Amino acid sequence: MNPIPVERISQSRLSMIDFNNLGFGNYLSDHMLLANYNDGRWQDPKVVPYGEIPMTPAMLSLHYGQAIFEGMKAFKNKNGELIIFRPQRHYQRLLKSMERMCMPAMSEEYFINSLNAVIKTDEQWVPTSEGSSLYLRPVIFATESRLGVKISDEYKFVILTSPVGPYFAKPVRVKVEEHYVRAAEGGTGFAKCAGNYGGAFYPTQLAKEQGFDQVLWTDACDHKYIDESGAMNVMFVLNGKLVTPKLTSAILDGVTRNSLLTLANKMGIVVEERKVSVAEIKEGFEKGTLTEAFGAGTAAVVSTIAAINISGEECVLPEINGHSIQLRLKKRLEDIRHGYEPDEFEWIYKIPQ
Ligand code: COI
Repeated sequence: MNPIPVERISQSRLSMIDFNNLGFGNYLSDHMLLANYNDGRWQDPKVVPYGEIPMTPAMLSLHYGQAIFEGMKAFKNKNGELIIFRPQRHYQRLLKSMERMCMPAMSEEYFINSLNAVIKTDEQWVPTSEGSSLYLRPVIFATESRLGVKISDEYKFVILTSPVGPYFAKPVRVKVEEHYVRAAEGGTGFAKCAGNYGGAFYPTQLAKEQGFDQVLWTDACDHKYIDESGAMNVMFVLNGKLVTPKLTSAILDGVTRNSLLTLANKMGIVVEERKVSVAEIKEGFEKGTLTEAFGAGTAAVVSTIAAINISGEECVLPEINGHSIQLRLKKRLEDIRHGYEPDEFEWIYKIPQ
């Protein structure tokens, strides 16, 4: 592949960023990667100043929802080297999302080189304080202008980057959803497509009006089994075991989920991936055998769930401490990402200089 050309911004916005108060997704870095798919192939990408792109209101993704994305993170390790966490696994998931949404595949080399180019251009934007990172948002959407209901023949691939801190500022309170549905088996729940998020807004907004931070989605048939939380997968510590819903076509195959399960196995924690019923979570709370609940995601990393509301009954979980499984897992993950622990699972991709 040819080197990716870079058109630099004339005036950087870097000095306007408050790196001590990043929040999540509030700032976009100076540059973005841009590539088009047309004439049956992905055309050469380029790095350009972040900004507006030409579009028409007839662009197919606006009407029929062919839009998918990824969420990944880049860091500077303790030696100052630029790294991306598990880009190959994100690429594999991107391919699955693209296939489900009838989009033309791109090669791994094309995807990784594109990431490298945009991260290297905005290397200065990679934050180094604890808990922060450069969030990477590859997004692909249909751009053909037509009104007929059809698979688009044209797409854009854009990579935005954003220096971020923690996704949640504090432990979250979640509500088990017993009416609305995020995804049904055979649908698009496993894919990272835009519509999954748009469809979740209304029930999440209702939950927020009731004082909750997130919805805990349940299965589309009976609302008996827990799926995920929309912005993150969920894990529980039940009877000292790490328990998480087994993947189905309605659940996103989280890269952080997979990493934490791998680490837990390595640390000798008993892991169970299986159907997790709402009833057993309630029973575990009542008996005191449910000791932890947390979300796992690229943005959320490990986010403590402080309380779970089940049919109006509030299950407030014990406060976490240094022995909590979630904090031990989080520390191990962060230590690998920052180079304090060996990368025995080969999760760290060093960006070539
Ligand atoms: C992520 O964890 O990267 C996500 O995509 C979740 C959310 C920020 C949309």
